[in-house]
Amino acid sequence: MFKRTLLAAVSATLLISSFPSLAKTPTIDDKILRVGTDSSFAPFEFLSVEENEFVGFDIDMIKAIGKDLGYKVVVQNMGFDATIPALQSGIVDVVVAGMSITEPRKKAINFSDPYYTSGLIVLVQENNTTIKSIDDLVGKKIGVQIGTTGMFKAEKIPGATVVNFANASETFLEFDNGGVEAVIQDYPVVAYYLSQNKKGKMVGEKMDAEDYGIAIKKGNDELTAQINKSLAKIKANGEYARIYKKWFGTEPK
Ligand code: ARG
Repeated sequence: MFKRTLLAAVSATLLISSFPSLAKTPTIDDKILRVGTDSSFAPFEFLSVEENEFVGFDIDMIKAIGKDLGYKVVVQNMGFDATIPALQSGIVDVVVAGMSITEPRKKAINFSDPYYTSGLIVLVQENNTTIKSIDDLVGKKIGVQIGTTGMFKAEKIPGATVVNFANASETFLEFDNGGVEAVIQDYPVVAYYLSQNKKGKMVGEKMDAEDYGIAIKKGNDELTAQINKSLAKIKANGEYARIYKKWFGTEPK
């Protein structure tokens, strides 16, 4: 009799521990928001060596939204071109990666309301006197990050050789080594790069005003609505402005 009860107790414990959700009442920690990003995109997302974690404007913003919604935010790093497939296959719940809201992407995923207005810029070597704007990139070797709006822009330039890199850091590295004559990349990311004592200069006008949005799986309108509500809240209560100032040094535009 005793033996049987013990056995039952043991198997019940085993059963419960193999289904952790049954083991205890869910707490806030059980609500996890899995966030996908490509962390080579400072100041929006990058790895802080000192802190040994992902930091940046996007990271702080999604943490603030997560906190408001009662989610613990867990960041998963991946290639930018892998972010949409990761959303579609359910590996992550949202993608926060300085992702520009574009019509083709809107067909594949949901976007939150815009959270940052960006645009593209051309980066060339400091001593370059021939490239003054995108119009001078005809027939040139241009470095871009794969799957980005910068890549789509470069592909339209007649006769240009477009070299794709896995992430923004690699693109900049190759530029620094002189492997490409120019880079087309998001303006704030190039501005941040140059602010880190790196060589190069921006030429021409900022192109194609692009709004960044948080990406959510297509059809997950409930999470999209929650995120929009939370985004509006942090904009209204000053949290968004605090994060903006921390990373860009100014009040939000
Ligand atoms: N804004 C550009 C785009 O949507 C580049 C984004 C790259 N983001 C990143 N985390 N690497 O295509």
